[in-house]
Amino acid sequence: MACGVRVTRDSTNYENRKSYQVLMANQRKVAVLIGSLRRESFTRKVANALIKLAPPSVVLEIVDIGGVSLYNQDLEPSAPRDWLAPRDKLRAADAVLFATPEYNRSVPGVLKNAIDVASRPKESNAFNGKPGAVISVSPGVLSGFGANHHLRQMLVFLNVPTMQQPEAYIGGAAKLFDESGNLTNDSTRQFLQNFVDSFARWIELILAGNR
Ligand SMILES: Cc1cc2nc3c(=O)[nH]c(=O)nc-3n(C[C@H](O)[C@H](O)[C@H](O)COP(=O)(O)O)c2cc1C
Repeated sequence: MACGVRVTRDSTNYENRKSYQVLMANQRKVAVLIGSLRRESFTRKVANALIKLAPPSVVLEIVDIGGVSLYNQDLEPSAPRDWLAPRDKLRAADAVLFATPEYNRSVPGVLKNAIDVASRPKESNAFNGKPGAVISVSPGVLSGFGANHHLRQMLVFLNVPTMQQPEAYIGGAAKLFDESGNLTNDSTRQFLQNFVDSFARWIELILAGNR
């Protein structure tokens, strides 16, 4: 599939319409995990910007992890109901995007817990073989580097082929959005556009290799 091709959604041109239909039929589902439950989360705002910027070959959908109860291996024989939806959504996805803040130089517990839940039972690890990408977000200057790389360490074990470049560390996040949560910084928008376009190409590359 030509995932780098831009096809306008409202075109009346036959060839363009046909290409659009082919694109839609092959559209990749990307599950988005966000490591913040905060109402005004900068990380969620970045994820929302990526959803808007995504090319037509991918559709990004946030998986709600706020209600996922703490992982306890004893509960596996009769898994809590709140573990099932995130597991199912991640298993059904073609790819996974991890958007994380940094807590104490690592990944917030809410995201780690959701990853633990969805990675088990081990033989049905929801992440296995799925192309992934990581973006970290912080109001600080270090841009969540520690969380980004702790997450990447987990993804090795989870067998997630993770996009290496462009790396994505979004710093100074408090200055990037207006009061309605819209991205106002042009260079960040360009960076995020390149990031999500690159991820769409990465997804095709990995899925082609998995066939
Ligand atoms: C428990 C806790 C630990 C934090 N540790 C870090 C940290 O290690 N590095 C950092 O850049 N910011 C840290 N922060 C500040 C967060 O980056 C900031 O609260 C940010 O807004 C959280 O992301 P969000 O806006 O997506 O919720 C911490 C915040 C909390 C509540």
